Amino acid sequence: MSFDPKLCRNESEVESKLIVQYLLPTLGYDASKWHQEVALGSIRLDFLALTSQVFPSITDSAPKVCVVVEAKHPKQNLNLHVRRMRRYLSKLQVMYGVLTNGKDFRIYQLIDHQGDRIDLIFQCQGSEIAAKIQKISDIIGRDKLAGIETPKSITETKFSEQVKLQPIETYLLPIPESKIARTMKTIAIYHNKGGVGKTTTTINLAAAISRKGLKVLIIDLDSQANTTYAAGLMKFETEEEDTLKDSNIYNVVFYPKSNYIPEVALKSTFTYPSVDVIPAHINLIWQEARLVDKDSSKTHLVKKLELVKDDYDVVLIDTPPSLNLYAKIALIACDYLIIPSDLKPFANEGLRNVKNFIEEIDEFRSFINKSPIAVLGVLPSKILTNANYIKATLPKQEKVVTERYGFPVLETRIFQREDLSRAIDNFIFEGDRQIPDPKSIFDFKPDSISAAEFEELANEVLEKVGLSA
Ligand SMILES: Nc1ncnc2c1ncn2[C@@H]1O[C@H](COP(=O)(O)OP(=O)(O)OP(=O)(O)O)[C@@H](O)[C@H]1O
Ligand SMILES: [Mg+2]
Repeated sequence: MSFDPKLCRNESEVESKLIVQYLLPTLGYDASKWHQEVALGSIRLDFLALTSQVFPSITDSAPKVCVVVEAKHPKQNLNLHVRRMRRYLSKLQVMYGVLTNGKDFRIYQLIDHQGDRIDLIFQCQGSEIAAKIQKISDIIGRDKLAGIETPKSITETKFSEQVKLQPIETYLLPIPESKIARTMKTIAIYHNKGGVGKTTTTINLAAAISRKGLKVLIIDLDSQANTTYAAGLMKFETEEEDTLKDSNIYNVVFYPKSNYIPEVALKSTFTYPSVDVIPAHINLIWQEARLVDKDSSKTHLVKKLELVKDDYDVVLIDTPPSLNLYAKIALIACDYLIIPSDLKPFANEGLRNVKNFIEEIDEFRSFINKSPIAVLGVLPSKILTNANYIKATLPKQEKVVTERYGFPVLETRIFQREDLSRAIDNFIFEGDRQIPDPKSIFDFKPDSISAAEFEELANEVLEKVGLSA
């Protein structure tokens, strides 16, 4: 049997032609020894290959001698998926992980069984897989793994030989409820500098999280209402058709005992599964003066969010490029903060304002018994894709963020790519009418590099706020 990587033009061909038809049978895993689309608690694996029809209890912390196989689209950079592989191997305590897009083939091994270290122990190109299959088999072949002694402490979940093989999720123990219990996490996306990608981050991060089956609420606190537009809520053409004027975030923050979140939130149309959105409105600009006179308006959002804490997993708040009252309301209401920045000198210098602003807000939060804002980090955003820049300048700019301003930098980088702006600027035509039809990057171009970057960002953020599997 041989394998030709040219046969794999998309993710499902990598799964069928490389993994199912070639790799697993050649390595000695017959159809009863591997399982596709395996659900283990809230983790979803593409494939799991076992040495027998026995999988150790996943609640047991001892390492398990089996192989997780994850297939990606040939255009996807595997580097973006290593973190997730590390999470799978360490959470499930599985010893081996194969990551491949058909062109690049890698095997990772869980090294530190208590922690989460994985090492790349084998890598080759797709065109070399057939030539190196013996080497691969020596590492993760079924016979090889069957010979590795499983640690004695493992309690095996055996099932009777008479019982027909069932989908694996029916006989694996679920992850205990306590480990996946969720609490709503509210994350503000803020930088006082304009145009750094706050709205783009809010919209696409919301879509990425929603696609993982979590319930998401977006709150737009910027009078420019770009997020409201990008979520697909501004399809009206005339002022008379503007239904947002009298029901938006202003109403939520102005009125203490009415205009609750479920009454004002709308269903978005920019992504599937849809998320809820509390829209903004251009009128927020002049309405701000009214709010300033009313000190209690700073805490109405906090109280109203408390009432929906069982309805959402993640709330993302988009903010204006300013130090105004709306920005304050966002930072008072959030638990966490992401600061998108293009890392250019102006944006970096602006971080000093962000830092002072956070200190001011934290003082207010202490009066209302809220813990200080947890800064998840500065998100490198709209980053140039020029190789020299990435190699020489970018690391220096990231270092400045930590050394001079004391903010952590997120590991994920969102590069400047046209697909992201094209997704938001998407239109459809109805007769001669041009109707805005903004999309998330996942709905506009799911196989794009930008989609993979936002997927990676969602993984990193969920991990940092304690919502990942
Ligand atoms: N990674 C990216 N690649 C390409 N274009 C981007 C990227 N991120 C944002 N943009 C574009 O840059 C412009 C500003 O982005 P965005 O609206 O997200 O910034 P912002 O910080 O929300 O701005 P503001 O401060 O005005 O609210 C938009 O036209 C957007 O489409
Ligand atoms: Mg914006």
